[in-house]
Amino acid sequence: MPEVLTHVISAELRERFASAKNVLVLTGAGVSAESGVPTFRGGGKTAVWKGMPFDVVSSATMVKRDLPAVWEWFDYRRKLLQPLQPNPAHLEIARWQERFEQCTVFTQNIDGLHQKAGSRDMIELHGSIWRARCLTCHAQFEILPDEVRDDTCVDCGDRLRPDVVLFGEMLPPGAFELAADRATEGELCFVVGTSAIVYPAAGLPEIARAAGAYVCEVNPERTPLSGICDEVLTGKAGEILPLLAGV
Ligand code: APR
Repeated sequence: MPEVLTHVISAELRERFASAKNVLVLTGAGVSAESGVPTFRGGGKTAVWKGMPFDVVSSATMVKRDLPAVWEWFDYRRKLLQPLQPNPAHLEIARWQERFEQCTVFTQNIDGLHQKAGSRDMIELHGSIWRARCLTCHAQFEILPDEVRDDTCVDCGDRLRPDVVLFGEMLPPGAFELAADRATEGELCFVVGTSAIVYPAAGLPEIARAAGAYVCEVNPERTPLSGICDEVLTGKAGEILPLLAGV
């Protein structure tokens, strides 16, 4: 662990971390970057698939227009993800769920790496790439690695789509309400690896702060949320979060 980083954690954050009982963590693609998962933005670029910006291929419009193309993009992402392992940031967050009386992890990530690291009762704000859902009866089906994915719902026979929140779609029913509720209860809120431009997820730290939480951002770059944070830790999540292990 790069010793040079130890000073980035303020005495205030150490104190609050040491005494906290209820901790919130909002994560985005950046928390998985050190595992090899490409982020969508950051570094001034956005992901493109077969000439289409990712927010075009992964959209509600595309499901209606060309569902096979949508599956092709998610099948490609799933293949990318399959061999990847959680990094020290995922592992540290999973440890926090054992350490604190309550530690709620809201993730925008669909990659399943938090769960692979041992995190439980995740609030998956944007669904999961490891699930499919029926277009008609909304039955959900797990997609197992190395298994041929079904295209059809065994319950009602209609087609399956990725169980992921696509552009132009609402979050899963109840997910944001539950998250917003939890966000009012936290003493400490970490915002890790998100560009904080996609709402309503990016609104959760604001709810937490309005309810009195100390908000700490971890990101190599500033985001629109940096200005409302009590503390900004500039750097990689996999290098910074483990610094709290000894607190
Ligand atoms: N550690 C911490 N943060 C990092 C790291 C790292 N190692 N590497 C990159 N980042 C930061 C980037 O600086 C950027 O601010 O992670 C952020 C990633 O931003 P996005 O790619 O926009 O991802 P995210 O915020 O999760 O996007 C939100 O948008 O595309 C949709 O549904 C998709 O859930 C996604 C949502």
